[in-house]
Amino acid sequence: MSKRGEKIACLTAYDASFAQVLDQAGVDIILVGDSLGMVIQGHNSTVSVSMDDMIYHSSCVSLMSKRALVVVDMPFMSYSNIDQALFNATRLMQEGGAQMVKLEATQRQSEIIEEMSACGIPVCAHLGLRPQYIHKLGGYQRQGKDIEAAEDILQDAISLEKAGADLLLVECITHPLAAKIQQTVSIPVIGIGAGKDCDGQILVLQDILGITAGKTPSFAKNYLTSGSIQMAIEDYVAEVKSGAFPR
Ligand code: KIV
Repeated sequence: MSKRGEKIACLTAYDASFAQVLDQAGVDIILVGDSLGMVIQGHNSTVSVSMDDMIYHSSCVSLMSKRALVVVDMPFMSYSNIDQALFNATRLMQEGGAQMVKLEATQRQSEIIEEMSACGIPVCAHLGLRPQYIHKLGGYQRQGKDIEAAEDILQDAISLEKAGADLLLVECITHPLAAKIQQTVSIPVIGIGAGKDCDGQILVLQDILGITAGKTPSFAKNYLTSGSIQMAIEDYVAEVKSGAFPR
């Protein structure tokens, strides 16, 4: 799709019913995100989410997704070394039905990704704002704001592609940096709060339905202003495809 210049519309889902609605509404990638720690479990970060949680929600989603690619998050500290990463990614694929796993990465994770890729595990590398590092970062701020920080993230993207990542997800980075990454790497780049110049966009499902508990991110948009959930998701897909979202 990225080679054809077709925008990739992605959303999160955590259960079978929504997986079916998203799949039928034309969503290209369904992410079983560890954001479930917040939107499903009510925690204030993703840190407490376990492998068993991810496998449970992933198996619910993957059973109902017939055309969308199912990408599943590896939770906090489930990929701190190569053996652990291979073991847990295998569980997500075999028990959870994941078709690709996502991990929050910098160049430090290159070797892990290289090994996963060599073993036939499709990998999405999540760069920029990495919510599993919240206690190190001290808040959910935009990343890559100064020249050095932006260069580090660009180099991370280049290294992770080289290591074998199949997809990049860039969260809350400056828009020019997202554009630069998109121009530099040859794998697709999905953005969240990273501006228009990405191959695709992703949002958390609850944010586009206006049912987020607490503060909705400024870059999200409520599509459930009238009609049905199915129509709201179709509108989101149409706006990503046409480039009307994000503004
Ligand atoms: O966990 C998640 O839902 C995510 C998205 C915010 C991209 O990683």
